[in-house]
Order: sequence, then structure tokens, then C-alpha cells
Amino acid sequence: MPEALRQTRRSLTSSAMKRSILIHPDPRLKKVCTPVEDISDELRVLAEDMLETMYDAPGIGLAAPQIGVMDRLIVMDCIKDDTQPPRPMAMFNPEVIASSDELNTYEEGCLSIPEQYADVTRPAEVQVRWMDLNGAEQTETFDGLWATCVQHEIDHLNGKLFIDYLKPMKRQMITRKMQKLKREKARA
Ligand code: NI
Repeated sequence: MPEALRQTRRSLTSSAMKRSILIHPDPRLKKVCTPVEDISDELRVLAEDMLETMYDAPGIGLAAPQIGVMDRLIVMDCIKDDTQPPRPMAMFNPEVIASSDELNTYEEGCLSIPEQYADVTRPAEVQVRWMDLNGAEQTETFDGLWATCVQHEIDHLNGKLFIDYLKPMKRQMITRKMQKLKREKARA
């Protein structure tokens, strides 16, 4: 991501604090997260911190369990074109309420599984309902990369990773690579 864009995005969340991202395998990435009751200031700060963490990574989506918080909260911004304004989204209790029969295959990655990518097939269009930062209910239909991203992030809230869609051999290979990476990081 170009530095200018990074700066613009960073200024959106100027007071936010970067959190550290858990790397698979970690038991917290396998748990079902708890619904959020009402949107406290603490949760708004958490959402801002997650956006900051996501932009900094850089990534296009992040779920609360990835920073060890077991609440149903995801953030995303799938604008990749530098000429377009960023669209930071924070979604509490996001839920897919309708999916298209049409499918789409994208090569997915995950900030908790760095530098590993694989094709995953999901519904091409999904209608999602969530609560925004003001506690207001929102509904929107997503397609393209946004549809893939929102489904990937909602999966995180249910303890599911994109590698769970892969054949066991491939999943085990990636998991072994991540275990090795974590050992190396621990030693560094
Ligand atoms: Ni992910």
C-alpha cells in the first residue's frame, strides 16, 4: 500500500492503538465468539484499534478473535484502488441473512495465517445484517471481494478459518508451516 494512502487511512483512526495479531494455531481462533449487547465506548475503541491494526498489517479484514477478543466484531475495507476514498467498516454481530446460489472462487489469505493463500469457493453475493458503531441496525448486500471478505471474517467469529475449507493434507501442511513460524518467532 502506498505510504500516502496509508497515512490517509491512519488519520481516520489517529488515536487508535495497534494490537498484536494471533497466529494460527491458537485455541482462541477456534472458539465461537459472544454476541455484543450494546455498543460501549470500550467497544468503539476496540473497533478503531482493529481498523488501525488491519490497515497497518496491511489487510482488508480483521475479526476480534484475531486479537484475542472473543466478541462478535469484525472490521473491513476492501477498497484497493488508491484513487477511491477508504471505506472503513465496523460490524457488530454480523450475520449473513441471504446468500446467492451463484458461487465465486477467490484466492484467500488471512492475517493469522501469514503468506499462505488458497482458493476458497463461497456464495458470490451475500446480504448481511449487523449493528454499526452507533448501535443502529444496518443491512447491505455485498458482492465481489467484499462478499468474500465479509464471509471470511464472519467465519472467524464461529471459530472457522479459510484453511478449514481445504483438503486435510493442504490444511495440515499450512498448519505445520505456521507452527514452525511461531517457533522461529518465539526464538527471535
Ligand atoms: Ni482471516
